[in-house]
Amino acid sequence: MNFNKITPSIISSLQEIAGKEYVFTDADSLKHYGHDETEDLNFPPQVVVKPRTAEEISAILKICNNENIPLTPRGAGTGLSGGALPVFGGIVLSMERFNKILDIDERNLQATVEPGVINQVFQETVAEKGLFYPPDPASKGSCFLGGNVAERAGGPKAVKYGVTKDYVLNLEVVLPTGEIIWTGANVLKNSTGYNLTQLLTGSEGTLGIITKIVFRLIPLPKHNLLMLAPFFSAIKACEAVPAIFRAGIIPSAMEFLERDAIDWALKYVAGISIHVKDDIQAHLIIEVDGNDPEVLMKECEKIMEVLQQFECDEILFADSQDQKNALWKMRRSVAEAVKTHSVYKEEDTVVPRAELPVLLAGVKEIGKKYGFQSVCYGHAGDGNLHVNIIKNNLSDEEWKVKLPQGIREIFQLCVKLGGTISGEHGIGWVQKDYMDIAFTEKSRSIQKQIKSVFDPNGILNPGKIWT
Ligand code: LAC
Ligand code: ZN
Repeated sequence: MNFNKITPSIISSLQEIAGKEYVFTDADSLKHYGHDETEDLNFPPQVVVKPRTAEEISAILKICNNENIPLTPRGAGTGLSGGALPVFGGIVLSMERFNKILDIDERNLQATVEPGVINQVFQETVAEKGLFYPPDPASKGSCFLGGNVAERAGGPKAVKYGVTKDYVLNLEVVLPTGEIIWTGANVLKNSTGYNLTQLLTGSEGTLGIITKIVFRLIPLPKHNLLMLAPFFSAIKACEAVPAIFRAGIIPSAMEFLERDAIDWALKYVAGISIHVKDDIQAHLIIEVDGNDPEVLMKECEKIMEVLQQFECDEILFADSQDQKNALWKMRRSVAEAVKTHSVYKEEDTVVPRAELPVLLAGVKEIGKKYGFQSVCYGHAGDGNLHVNIIKNNLSDEEWKVKLPQGIREIFQLCVKLGGTISGEHGIGWVQKDYMDIAFTEKSRSIQKQIKSVFDPNGILNPGKIWT
């Protein structure tokens, strides 16, 4: 892709549109906005703009189209597939000033927000009104709702409540050509035309820039119980997962952690002590929630009965809010703990839930074949396993050339098992070489044509999803 460089006259135009104080070209800003949480990648843009309105964004995109300048939208920069990396330079459009919760409609259980609102801030604000916005990515304390929508983010609660896409009703979007549209309507059912709302959701900033989101909300469950179940075998832990659902229970979280994941996380977060016996290979974190504590107790008893059939050791119940918070803090820190431990590559594999043991065994086999160690953890109830491949003693050559072959085999296994290559992190920059595993040529071609209908000049987040 060939783009033009930004000239001083373009900078002046950007300053006129967004205000001088919201256009940045200093070295620190360019460095900061050149990376997200994806590995150690850094692609500094030429300029960072922080607009405040959809109209400003529209005017900026019109310049990009006229001058052939690439523009990369960015939320909080917590992404793990490089969706916010300005890989061709140009403009980073930071959405951080779009940080207002515009309306909480308690009559209809809906809320309208701007995309720069932090996930947890939104959750806490609606919880004060007895309402619940369940999607809770591990980065919920810092990630933006706009990024969650753009990446179709998930999190632990997805197993019972669904992922971000299941809460998006309607979006205001600035198209790459500058027009502003709403994608749908603020209704719970809608069979009117193509579903542009869901097309934009998960489009990773390649089809348009989201400037308003209408979410549906649900009533906040009043109680929950949380347990940590240790297993002598990681495969057995995975086998226990579908058995719980078959026993008639849908937990509100069902997380899997291999031994290294819990060990590294416990080392990384201060002030949490959980004793893990030497012969424990994996844990499940299981939460149930609802409004009747007695029902929850019964569900836990049933879960324990099931777990015992899979050689589980003594189960620990979190018996205070502090213990619950500590356990979740540990779980949410795994990604950062792995990152601090070593150079790594994260794959966001997903298969139908009952295939998880086959996937885990396959990942370990493939690791042996290619000589890499992996640390696996994730949302077992969704069949969503984060496979973290650790560089250890692999040479740079092996890491660059051999590893992609190993990753290819892992993804081929996912698809063979009825799964796909990303469950909740997106494709972005780092997984696009594997799209041929997930889709046939015809399907890829249809999707690329959709991209060119929205973005005929290819200026919006170029280099993402598609090679
Ligand atoms: C998690 C992130 C990495 O589940 O998706 O911790
Ligand atoms: Zn995750």
